[in-house]
Amino acid sequence: MNSLDLHTIQAIVKKRNPNANKSHHGHALLVAGSKAKMGAAIIAAKACLRSGAGLVTLNISRKERQAVFAAIPEAMIAFREEDHSLEKHTAFGIGPGLGTDKSAERKVASLLENIKLPIVLDADALTVLANNPKLFTKIPPNSIVTPHEKEFDRMFGQHANNPDRRQTAIQKATEFQLVIVLKSSQTFITNGSQNFLNTTGNAGLAKGGSGDALTGMITAFTAQGYEPLQAACLGVFLHGLAADITLETQSEESMLISDVIENIGKAFR
Ligand code: APR
Ligand code: MG
Repeated sequence: MNSLDLHTIQAIVKKRNPNANKSHHGHALLVAGSKAKMGAAIIAAKACLRSGAGLVTLNISRKERQAVFAAIPEAMIAFREEDHSLEKHTAFGIGPGLGTDKSAERKVASLLENIKLPIVLDADALTVLANNPKLFTKIPPNSIVTPHEKEFDRMFGQHANNPDRRQTAIQKATEFQLVIVLKSSQTFITNGSQNFLNTTGNAGLAKGGSGDALTGMITAFTAQGYEPLQAACLGVFLHGLAADITLETQSEESMLISDVIENIGKAFR
């Protein structure tokens, strides 16, 4: 087991090319949010932009567009009611706040059918997968799934403890050719052959929305050309580090995920 520490991360991080333009840093598509859960989409998009993606498009319902324009003018919008070409996107994050109804199921199934690149799958997309196990074989190889413990058990069966979950994660990562990010106070990352245990983060992250930010961050690193395992490691480490830096100005109780996103910059530095 590798410890995911500063030393490991510094070996992964690429310097940004001083002559780069936005097209060098990828165009992420985030399929997230539904009527009562638009916050999840906005959090994921903010974290994605703060983590260096060149362009971020949010796929949301037309009815919810004002919330997005007001909260995050840097994001572009593709309406969920309309067909949207996937060709121009270089990274995909699916699931935060998406819902688990029939229309969400159809959306996830259609995306899995049509996307050939690795996808970051989280939250409601994982529940849809757990409810429709046939979809597992449709996940593009090297995709990243980011379940918390309950989502993990819904997908792969009940477990008594995290050491057991880690063993299953290694097996399932191999079987389905996935990077699995098993989230907890000590997040575990595996691609079946390499395993990492994160060293950053604190209980201020134990609040709704934290996972949505992580999805945005990992999607951003995929957009920037990091290999899926590296993108997952970078996202998990920097998400926790930004939360640790937030303790300089907040407490674990008072911390908002918006504060953590504001500190992604310091975490990079
Ligand atoms: N120490 C360190 N890190 C922590 C701790 C802790 N004590 N508690 C939580 N975290 C981190 C986890 O490692 C993970 O990265 O915070 C994040 C929490 O992610 P989620 O469990 O996905 O939480 P949440 O943001 O609420 O998810 C939003 O997705 O899972 C669904 O039902 C959930 O709809 C909700 C949505
Ligand atoms: Mg979550």
